[in-house]
Amino acid sequence: MGFSKTFLTRKEFEMCGIFGIISENKFSSTDILASLKKLEYRGYDSAGIAMTGGSLYIEKSVGKISELEKKLKLFSGNAGISQTRWATTGAVTEKNAHPHLDCSKKIAVVHNGIVENYLELKKDLTKNGHKFESETDTEVIAHLLENNAPDKVLEMLEGRNAFVALKDGKIIVAKNGSPLAVGVGENVNYIASDALPFLDKTKTVIFLEDGDVAELTNSNIKFYGQQREPQHIDWTIEDAKKGTYSHYLIKEIMEQPMTINAAVAQNDEKINEISRMINSSFGSFFVACGTASHAALAASYFFAKIANKHINFCVGSEFSSHKHFLTDKSLVIAISQSGESADTLEAIKIAKEKSAKIISIVNVPGSTISRQSDYCFLTNAGPEIAVCSTKAFTSQLSVALLFAYAAAGKLEEGKELLKETSKHVREMLTTEFTEKIKLLSKKIAQKEHLYVIGKGFNYPISLETALKIKEVSYMHAEGFASGELKHGVIALIEKDTPCIAIVANDEFKQDVLNGAAEIKLRGGYIIGVSPENHEVFDFWLPVPDAGNASPIVNTIPAQLLAYYLALERGCDPDYCRNLAKSVTVK
Ligand code: AGP
Repeated sequence: MGFSKTFLTRKEFEMCGIFGIISENKFSSTDILASLKKLEYRGYDSAGIAMTGGSLYIEKSVGKISELEKKLKLFSGNAGISQTRWATTGAVTEKNAHPHLDCSKKIAVVHNGIVENYLELKKDLTKNGHKFESETDTEVIAHLLENNAPDKVLEMLEGRNAFVALKDGKIIVAKNGSPLAVGVGENVNYIASDALPFLDKTKTVIFLEDGDVAELTNSNIKFYGQQREPQHIDWTIEDAKKGTYSHYLIKEIMEQPMTINAAVAQNDEKINEISRMINSSFGSFFVACGTASHAALAASYFFAKIANKHINFCVGSEFSSHKHFLTDKSLVIAISQSGESADTLEAIKIAKEKSAKIISIVNVPGSTISRQSDYCFLTNAGPEIAVCSTKAFTSQLSVALLFAYAAAGKLEEGKELLKETSKHVREMLTTEFTEKIKLLSKKIAQKEHLYVIGKGFNYPISLETALKIKEVSYMHAEGFASGELKHGVIALIEKDTPCIAIVANDEFKQDVLNGAAEIKLRGGYIIGVSPENHEVFDFWLPVPDAGNASPIVNTIPAQLLAYYLALERGCDPDYCRNLAKSVTVK
């Protein structure tokens, strides 16, 4: 179905949060919104709800869920669906907010994903007399459900989609690409984009697979095709609350001494078996996106130095260009917090077509990547809510280090190093240290540009440092290998341009210090992240000497600086503009 590329880009980022309940006992509209709020990190442009309790109650609003709350009527019913939207298709208006209705106003639909052929479907439906009220692709689903069975409708949609409909007092759920999970209760069933919104009600979850369609009543879950088995999720809803912290971001940064230890709590036998597979593999790749890709890049460095094993690295969205190197001796090691990143899923699909085996390092249990892998390692970091990934990243680094040490036959040494590192991180997260970073953030908050240099194990950390600062404080930041400085970027250095130099006590120490000196010569303001102070530093951020785990301790100041810069620059640290927590479309 050939649509022009330019059109596709407009709709590219439809990532949202869906939540629904169908229950024997009546519940109120406020109950639905309370659960939907737990998905707000997936999108916050507009929100809406549809409920039945005799009549169909619809309410929509532009902006965060709190805006919808202001106009919400206290409606009670037995079934309801809702959605918080992250939109580009058509303006962010109430008309385009979900849910969308069919002509009879009896079928309500919420959706996550892209209906890539929606214009053609809309044209046919319009020709057959259907009247459309919004500019969205989603509305075609409501009209299609008037005369077609839900499984037929799902087949008609091109692209990655998940939809939930309220029809005849039942909830219909359908998935092909974007994630959906059913929460199984006593005379009540839940549906959501992930398990978080109903974890305080049930830990029995059915994760839908691509092509799945089911009908939910309060006592039954009827699949159109193969029945799926429930699994138990042991996350608690407390894990997903802010507690006493003002933002999820700072809470998750402060959890890292614990989450690094939890990441190490892996099954030794499984780790050793995997490391043997990696050692005997050929033409293998670490693959991931965004922050996870920085962990994947670091992992390839860990294997090169610690296990003397070459493993390629590639970002998910570029992987297809390398597929012809894959064989049945190759492994693809996919790293992902959410386990739902579409570009990483696409890379896994390509690898499977080439008979390569899939190992994944994932944080969300039951997620699509975890289910598509031959071997899955959970990073055990608990729910990560802030859009800006922090604790999941240091957990990914920890598991990758563990793999490398195991591949070198030194698993116990690796474990000891990471236990030590968890202690180091606990010692770093002091008020004195955060106050120092707050001071720095005040000094540089109005700067337009910031650069970060690192080498070896800490080159990926220079990239991660820049990404954290960019995505949460909207300050332009660029990380690069310190050796690349002289090949162009140094031209950007002006008087007082802030530059973070990540200087570990390793074989590259002097190289990075030289790079910092060259920047200082051109007027740069040097912020040194290092175990020891140095005269080239204008501002020193002391970090423990953590040996091969230096990338973990060197990331902490970057995360804190991004947080305090965001506050200084009046940005919301938890909800980054133009971003969503998991990127479920390519
Ligand atoms: C990181 O702070 C960002 N939210 C983003 O780069 C993220 O790391 C990327 O989208 C990958 O997500 P994943 O780990 O869930 O696959």
